[in-house]
Amino acid sequence: MSSQTYLFIFLSVHLSCLGCLDSTIIPFQVQSDIDKLKIDFNSSNSDVADGGPIFTEKLKSWTEVNERRILFSHIISLYLKMFENIDTSKAHVRNVHEYLLAKKSNLANDYKKINDIMELAKLPMSDLKIQRKAINELSPLLQKLDSPTARSERRRRQNSRGCKC
Ligand SMILES: *[C@@H]1O[C@H](CO)[C@@H](O)[C@H](O)[C@H]1NC(C)=O
Repeated sequence: MSSQTYLFIFLSVHLSCLGCLDSTIIPFQVQSDIDKLKIDFNSSNSDVADGGPIFTEKLKSWTEVNERRILFSHIISLYLKMFENIDTSKAHVRNVHEYLLAKKSNLANDYKKINDIMELAKLPMSDLKIQRKAINELSPLLQKLDSPTARSERRRRQNSRGCKC
């Protein structure tokens, strides 16, 4: 085989894996513990499909790795809330719970961002003091909101000027 062929194989193997960077393989033990949980909860019964999935559908519109980490941190915290209400005396339940706790601590910084959103949702926007603060912050906020777009817009214009096509 020519060196070009080797290079081609090397690139195709590596490029084909770019899409899988954000997916990890679940450890075998955890997978088998999840399977036991599915039996406990009758989660493979057909009625579970009624109304569609609650989490996996949502992931479709969150495509960037960093975005997904934020959504995952919230979803995992919901799972942990669920585990607070189920009996963790069985080993497989405890194992899955511990695995999720570890995942949650990996996503701690992303979870802080979710907390920002939840705190903002609680702001009393009919309060006059809050309204005065909000109006005071409006211009700098709008500038920050528009600036990244403005920058890529400028870059696009420069690029198209250099293009002879
Ligand atoms: C699962 O199904 C079994 C058998 O029908 C039933 O006894 C059990 O209560 C069900 N468990 C749950 C969590 O729905």
